[in-house]
Amino acid sequence: MASNAAALREQGFGQTQRRDTWWVQPLAMGAAFVVFIIYATFRGLLNRDYLYGHGTEVLPESAYFLSPFYSPLLGMPSWMPTWVAPAIFVMWMPAGFRLTCYYGRKAYYRSLFGDPPACAVAEFCKPHYKGERGLWAFQNIHRYFLYLALLLVCMHIYHVVEACRWPTAGGGITFGVSVGTLVLAVDLLFLALYVFSCHSLRHLVGGGLDCFSGASGESRYKAWSIVTKLNEFHGTFFWISLFTVGFADFYIWMVSSGHIHDLRLI
Ligand code: FES
Repeated sequence: MASNAAALREQGFGQTQRRDTWWVQPLAMGAAFVVFIIYATFRGLLNRDYLYGHGTEVLPESAYFLSPFYSPLLGMPSWMPTWVAPAIFVMWMPAGFRLTCYYGRKAYYRSLFGDPPACAVAEFCKPHYKGERGLWAFQNIHRYFLYLALLLVCMHIYHVVEACRWPTAGGGITFGVSVGTLVLAVDLLFLALYVFSCHSLRHLVGGGLDCFSGASGESRYKAWSIVTKLNEFHGTFFWISLFTVGFADFYIWMVSSGHIHDLRLI
C-alpha cells in the first residue's frame, strides 16, 4: 500500500486505483456550493424584495415575511448610501458558521480545493500539506460562531411567529398560516437540526467533565446523547438546511416582487 500511495503521488492530482464513480459526489457538492454562493451573494446585494407584509406597510390579510438572508433586519443610518444592503452586515454570521463547520470544511476541501478530492485519491498539494495550521487556524473560531448561530435560530423562531400574526382590516391581529409560513417553518426546522447537531455544541454540552454522575452530570449526559444522535446526520442537515434557507429566500423574493401570490391555508 505504501508504495502504491507513493506512486499515486508521483502521478499527480486525481490519480487513484478506485474503480467506482468517486468523482460524482465532489462534483455535485462543488456545483451546489458554487450555485449557492452566487445566488446568496446576488440576493444579499440586491437590496430589495426581502420583506413582505406589515414590515413595510400594513397589508390586511397577509403574512409578514423577512428573508432569512436579511435576518436580523438592521435599520440603516440615513448617511448610508441607499444601495448598501442590510444583509451585508448580517450574512457574515451564517456564512462564517458554515465556512468553519467541521462537515462543511470536509465538503469544500474536497469539492472545491480537491484536497483530497475523495478517499484514496491523490490530492492537489500533498507534498506541501501541513494540516489546518498557520492561517487555517482561524477555523477554530467555529465554537464562537456557534453562539451566533444559536441567536439566529432564535431570530428564525421569531420570524415564524410573526408569519402567523396576520393584521386584520380593523387594526387587530389574527392567527393565520400560509404557504410562506410553512416555508419559513421548514427552514427553521432544518436550521435548528443543523445547529443542534453541531460538533462544537456536542462538546459544549458534554465536554469538560471527568464523569457524568450527579444531577447536573446526568442532565448534561442526556443533552450530549441527543446532540450525539443528531450529530450522526450533521452532513445531511448541512445540505438540507442550505437548500431550505435558499428556497425560503427565493419564495419571499417571488411573493414580495408580485410574481406569485402567497396562498392562505388557515
Ligand atoms: Fe458543523 Fe458545527 S460542526 S455546524
